[in-house]
Amino acid sequence: MATREKVQRLKSVPGSDGGLFDREPASTGAAASRTGLKPPNRTCTFTGLDIGTTKICAIIAEIDPAGKTTVRGIASTPSQGLRRGVVVDLEETIASIRTAVRKAEEIAQVGVRDVLVGIAGGHIQCFQSSGAVDVSNPERGITRADIRRAVDKSALDQIPMEREVIHTLPQRFIIDDGPVANPEGFSSRKLTADVLTVTAAVTSAQNIIRAVRNAHYRVGGIYLEPLASSLAVLTPEERDLGVVAIDIGGGTSDIAIWAEGTVRYTGVVPYGGDSITEDVRRGLKISCFDAENLKKRYGSCLPNNIKEDEKVEVPVALTGETQEISRRFLCEIIMSRYEEILLLVKEQCERSAHFDKAFGGVVLTGGGALQEGAAKLAEKIFDRPCKIGRPSGLAGLSSVASSPIYSTGVGLVYYGLQADQEAGLSEKNLFQRLVRFFKKAIDWY
Ligand SMILES: Nc1ncnc2c1ncn2[C@@H]1O[C@H](COP(=O)(O)OP(=O)(O)OP(=O)(O)O)[C@@H](O)[C@H]1O
Ligand SMILES: [Mg+2]
Repeated sequence: MATREKVQRLKSVPGSDGGLFDREPASTGAAASRTGLKPPNRTCTFTGLDIGTTKICAIIAEIDPAGKTTVRGIASTPSQGLRRGVVVDLEETIASIRTAVRKAEEIAQVGVRDVLVGIAGGHIQCFQSSGAVDVSNPERGITRADIRRAVDKSALDQIPMEREVIHTLPQRFIIDDGPVANPEGFSSRKLTADVLTVTAAVTSAQNIIRAVRNAHYRVGGIYLEPLASSLAVLTPEERDLGVVAIDIGGGTSDIAIWAEGTVRYTGVVPYGGDSITEDVRRGLKISCFDAENLKKRYGSCLPNNIKEDEKVEVPVALTGETQEISRRFLCEIIMSRYEEILLLVKEQCERSAHFDKAFGGVVLTGGGALQEGAAKLAEKIFDRPCKIGRPSGLAGLSSVASSPIYSTGVGLVYYGLQADQEAGLSEKNLFQRLVRFFKKAIDWY
């Protein structure tokens, strides 16, 4: 199907997602609880599938009517076949997806059909645009259908054939009387939507979807990974206050600027923890495996806090013997790459008009956030408060799932809840419309 046709059938209600799914996509809604989402009416189970550069991770979690989120199954497998969020070997990716979901199914003792999938990578782009429509019935007030048309219109004219819409995120609406947060129900002749549209390269998005489908799972929705991790680690208050959320993964560092409760900017820096490992490998002339271990065990972003004479043992690749190197030297290698990544993130943020609104500070998540001293370094670079964001308040296998490594997977589970509620909402609206129709018909009769 041509991209243009696909874009035409997007369901672009507030906060909606692209048109690639096997079921109805989500839109915004919901409030309360830690995530700001309303708990479901019945206990629901969702599966988040984070297809990352270093690991593919499946999280099966149950959310009950009290809002309690219980992680029933979690499994991770080394990611084979991806590079910086892009599938480079389809068969390897399919096999890794299968392994991760099957392991999670075994642990949870449930079968999985639909998965909520994350997407990221250097091919992701976002842009701001506006769409204006005539309200279909100004006296009756603006309907969700009017909102959808305005949001759709804002994005449609600007999507090249090779791009696929992932999210259309309304920033504000303007009615005849001026700007409003939610225009539904207002009387107005015109409606304008200012929208942040997130797009992916068609081929990259399709390859991820193909890999999931070929692994015999249905794509319940596809979501931008930094938005998913933000949902897992930021409270509604933090999203209101305004923060920069940075998900430092293996291949990329993904950015989401939040302000006034909405995501205002998303971006990607094509470096993550793997670049740091690579620097350590080259700098110390050791294997990738040893460099990764050394980085995690003795690494820090604050070399000045390390005693000058502190030594660590490093294996010599060829002979298997060990040599001693200065730990401070190791940490200097780590710090300089980490600093470079954060400066590139800051540079992107500064280009966005919304950076100044994110005065709450910086939240680091993803595996890279586990590097010792990362928050302190970010605080220095951004000159704003910084903390490590991790999924919290979980039950079940929470000790594993509350690592920043699993922020995206947990966030995808919450997106599942959001999608479910939106599907329910539209059913309810349809039912209410039918009731209204029959009432009118009786009146006429
Ligand atoms: N304790 C630790 N200290 C330092 N770095 C760590 C630690 N644990 C994990 N990492 C790094 O985190 C990175 C992996 O993070 P994560 O699992 O979030 O990536 P991913 O989701 O697979 O990748 P991406 O989001 O880029 O697709 C690796 O580079 C790894 O070395
Ligand atoms: Mg990731």
